[in-house]
Amino acid sequence: MANKNVIIIGGGVIGLGIGWQLEKSGASVTIYERDRAGRAASWAAAGMLAPLAEAHTEEPELLTLGSKSLALYPQWVEELEADAQMSIGYRVEGTLIVGLEADDTDQLRHLFAAQQELGLDVNWLSGRDAREIEPALSPRVTAAIYCATDYQVDNRLMVEALQHAYKTSGGVLHENSAIEKIVVENGIVTGVQTQDGFHETDVVVLSAGCWSAQIDGLPDAIIPPVRPVKGQMLALQMEEGIDIKTVIRTVRARYPTSVYLVPRSDGRLIVGATSEEMGFDIRLTVGGMFELLRGAWEVVPGVYELPILETWTGLRPGSRDNAPILGKTPIENLIYATGHYRSGILFTPITAYEITKLILTSETPKTIIPFQLNRFLR
Ligand code: GLY
Repeated sequence: MANKNVIIIGGGVIGLGIGWQLEKSGASVTIYERDRAGRAASWAAAGMLAPLAEAHTEEPELLTLGSKSLALYPQWVEELEADAQMSIGYRVEGTLIVGLEADDTDQLRHLFAAQQELGLDVNWLSGRDAREIEPALSPRVTAAIYCATDYQVDNRLMVEALQHAYKTSGGVLHENSAIEKIVVENGIVTGVQTQDGFHETDVVVLSAGCWSAQIDGLPDAIIPPVRPVKGQMLALQMEEGIDIKTVIRTVRARYPTSVYLVPRSDGRLIVGATSEEMGFDIRLTVGGMFELLRGAWEVVPGVYELPILETWTGLRPGSRDNAPILGKTPIENLIYATGHYRSGILFTPITAYEITKLILTSETPKTIIPFQLNRFLR
């Protein structure tokens, strides 16, 4: 078992994380990445580790998966930072969800009640209490929910660390190397086809994010139902007077775009994100930037003076029900780890540890049973 050969399609944090864990367990792993490793959704993300702030009462299984993955983060950070010999910017200052108007406060109350029903560790704050935590918040902030255990990590540092840890543990990474076809014979995966020919393997893991549905060779019925969901974002440089420590998210009942502000240790302030069903279109738009800047300025007026460092778009891999697709498929030895949508960075540790266990033991860990492809096949 320890000598299994595994090919991973997709070198984002999910593919790299699984590859790193498998290599450490004795498997021989090769990752094929269509572009540069970790430069798609993994790079575009804001790195929020926010099962509470993003909790939807109708999705308790997702909340459980997120909470379990968040609980794995301290172990993940320690292991990855030790192997990669670098920090990944894990920060535990918590998250403030704020509202600015009466309608927002109503929505916040609704969210707070739902979070309490779920037994989550959240606190209701007045606007004044919220400003005591973050003095840069607007005097218009009327109320807030403080999610003390919704943290953040610097996803770009995590990409760098994972690449380094994966390679130094023995993993092979081919960048700019698209998979033309997954090769299946008699219901069993035998390898993959690239422009260099056929590569035989024992196991194939499909973790190609929003490109996961575009790889030839699979029967139509089992192509993972994953689509791109565009997010526009930007980064500002914090300066004197704006020294934000917590993640800030807005609830804006009357506006199309709620925003989040994520402060990095190097002084960058990430502002995101739109959510658009635009296929593979990655253009920035005036409307998108306007909504983000307006949203950020309303909640932290001081951003008006800050320099803009960068703008970008990312494509979230959203599945048909927006939950990840994890585990076995009807094709023997073909494993899916895709569709992580808005929470790919949060779900990385649990995905990496559990998919590694699955590949090494052939047993599906209980945690990922609700997220198997078969939920779409019934
Ligand atoms: N998790 C944040 C986003 O998808 O924009």
